[in-house]
Amino acid sequence: MPKTNGALSDYKIVSSYNAADLSSSIAKKLSKEHGTVELTEFPDGEFKIRFDEDYRNSRVLLVHRLYPEASRSVVALLFMLHKLAENGNSIDIFIPYFAFGRQDKEFIGGEVVSAAALLQLLRKYGVKRVFTFDMHSRSATNVSGLEVIDMPTAALLAKYVNSAVKMKSKIVVAPDRGAEGRAAEAANELGCDHISLEKRRDRYTGEVYTSEPAENFSGKDALIIDDIISTGGTVANASLMLKKKGANAVYVACTHYLYLADTETKLFSSGTDKIFATDTINGKFSKVGIADEFASFYAKSL
Ligand code: R5P
Repeated sequence: MPKTNGALSDYKIVSSYNAADLSSSIAKKLSKEHGTVELTEFPDGEFKIRFDEDYRNSRVLLVHRLYPEASRSVVALLFMLHKLAENGNSIDIFIPYFAFGRQDKEFIGGEVVSAAALLQLLRKYGVKRVFTFDMHSRSATNVSGLEVIDMPTAALLAKYVNSAVKMKSKIVVAPDRGAEGRAAEAANELGCDHISLEKRRDRYTGEVYTSEPAENFSGKDALIIDDIISTGGTVANASLMLKKKGANAVYVACTHYLYLADTETKLFSSGTDKIFATDTINGKFSKVGIADEFASFYAKSL
């Protein structure tokens, strides 16, 4: 069967200005080199982007972070894609954290469904395949002509946490129904049970409300697993409930930790014992590397 996506040797890996760490690891794992993109800023804040070489009529894998500075990072991405597409390249992109993914519906009349808008833009700008980790929701991913490949992290996170803290009498907890699938995967990795808490969010204030679970967690080491920790409200509520119901320790693992001010304090003061995250976004809790996982996944996709 012919390989429609080409062979690894056909691809040029290009690191965006904000993804050198990931690109080096990916290139190393795939025994390839990678190119670079430089972003410089004019005094008025506008930026200028320059590729290290004239990529032309090639298969390109662009590695770009959409966070931090998500809005700015989208503009820079569109500029890079414009150039690559104009020069006749076929484009795959690896976006470790798909920012804007939580606005996957018109929750309140008049809202833009940003997740869908961004995916449509990527397709219009010539992207063929988007690779990402633990996308908040797949409901906006049905874009004609664009393949969205969403890779899981729950087993990777669970394995890391278990070796870092030697959990005993384990239970995995989804802080809301949306995280149930992730919790099931993590529990499968740890060989234990999982439960889901009931959460609701006020769409206008952003306030999170979590119901007290019926279960008792006495003597249990709980692992709360979620895709994103933003303000920390969701996980802080879950930690409070678990400690209130007797949990011995509460560990928290997420794929994308957004490093907002005050989140850490909120989590630790609510009973969280330790926080773990992947390096889709870099920071002090981002200990679980995803570059090798992506590289293996990517090689298999060709
Ligand atoms: C929401 O459904 C997501 O899965 C996360 O639970 C949420 O984005 C976390 O946000 P925050 O940390 O602000 O509660």
